[in-house]
Amino acid sequence: MQPESWRSIPLVSRLTAAAKPLARRGFLKLSAALTGSIALGANSGSAEPAPASPPADAPWSQSLGAGVVDRPYGRPADHEAGVIRRNVPWLTATTESSISFSPLQDLHGIITPNGLFFERHHAGRPDIDPDQHRLMIHGLVERPLVLNMKDILRFPQVTRIHFIECAANGGMEWRAAQLNSLQFNHGMISCAEWSGVRLSTLLEEVGVKKQAKWAMVEGADGAHMNRSLPLDKCLDDCIVVYAQNGEALRPEQGYPLRLVVPGWEGNVNIKWLRRIKLGDKPWFSREETSKYTDPMPDGTSRGFTWLIDAKSVITFPCPEKPLDRAGLYEIRGLAWTGNGKVKRVDVSTDGGINWQTARLHEPVLSKALTKFTLPWHWDGQPALLESRVIDETGYVQPTIAQLRNSRGSNSVYHNNAIQTWQIKPDGSVFNVQLA
Ligand code: CO
Repeated sequence: MQPESWRSIPLVSRLTAAAKPLARRGFLKLSAALTGSIALGANSGSAEPAPASPPADAPWSQSLGAGVVDRPYGRPADHEAGVIRRNVPWLTATTESSISFSPLQDLHGIITPNGLFFERHHAGRPDIDPDQHRLMIHGLVERPLVLNMKDILRFPQVTRIHFIECAANGGMEWRAAQLNSLQFNHGMISCAEWSGVRLSTLLEEVGVKKQAKWAMVEGADGAHMNRSLPLDKCLDDCIVVYAQNGEALRPEQGYPLRLVVPGWEGNVNIKWLRRIKLGDKPWFSREETSKYTDPMPDGTSRGFTWLIDAKSVITFPCPEKPLDRAGLYEIRGLAWTGNGKVKRVDVSTDGGINWQTARLHEPVLSKALTKFTLPWHWDGQPALLESRVIDETGYVQPTIAQLRNSRGSNSVYHNNAIQTWQIKPDGSVFNVQLA
């Protein structure tokens, strides 16, 4: 079977409909059927014919390994030392008010490990003593309260999976493709399982006064990062969290307490949360006037643009993970939307002329990363890979040209454009923008 015929064959539906998942053996078999070879064709040396006897023992198979007291708190294998968050030194004046990007090219699935969750600090990472930490809730409330961590842990607990994306993710790409990297162009998105107490539960405890319409949420960092949030959102799905992926928050993620505002820009997910004040109007803080607003072509600025619009990106292949040689591959990627659930992801290998529907992998959760895949036989020719998400509201991810048409090119925030990866015949992958 030739690669050209893939489009006419409902291969994806067949695979999706199969009772059992496509196992590696099946993939190899499929590869053989398609290419007439037993080689996988994806990773060199990965699919040699098996010899008649088991391979010779490597040194680590001939001695005792380390005992259980060796690493009371586990860490990745030494050979994974290159899988780290990275920053772009020229992007910010200091590392204390800066960004680190998650290595999406090395991650699998929808959960970001705690040590690789992207960081955005405005005055560095405070290391807080939880016994001394307090959360004050006051303003237009019946019973102002100061809660300590023990108080907060006594409230009913909820656990939910949500992404957090910095509004500036992809911000360097508004005018032109700049950095040839998945990590630096998309790495300010991460997703975790959060545990804590609903903000609505805490607000019920203090009693919201009728005139209250807004909440000012403030962090205990040196910047006292603060934003205004509509009370409706606070009562809808916000969570005051103390745990991330099953353990206490990391210091760089807000230990001991942070606000999670599902589906809204990262900046409002206040870390080191220490104060919530209710009022009848927004506060117009620095971070919602001078920053985190969007300059429009007519000279005005959009303000209070909290929602993360639907976005997707192919995480394999990508500049950091090129193709090796022609053959069968699985295109993999992530999609998300602040509107709720991802409904569909389409993938193009010819720069958006033809599209195929990718397979969405369970779980498909509201305001969480969703994984998609599509089998692809690369014929060794130049290709332009793109993914395009459609969310449950019918919103379709725009091209960068569409985004510039509506919002101009002076923006930094809320770039949710379709990413194009150019594949060259040698398998290398480049970040490009199509006119
Ligand atoms: Co915004």
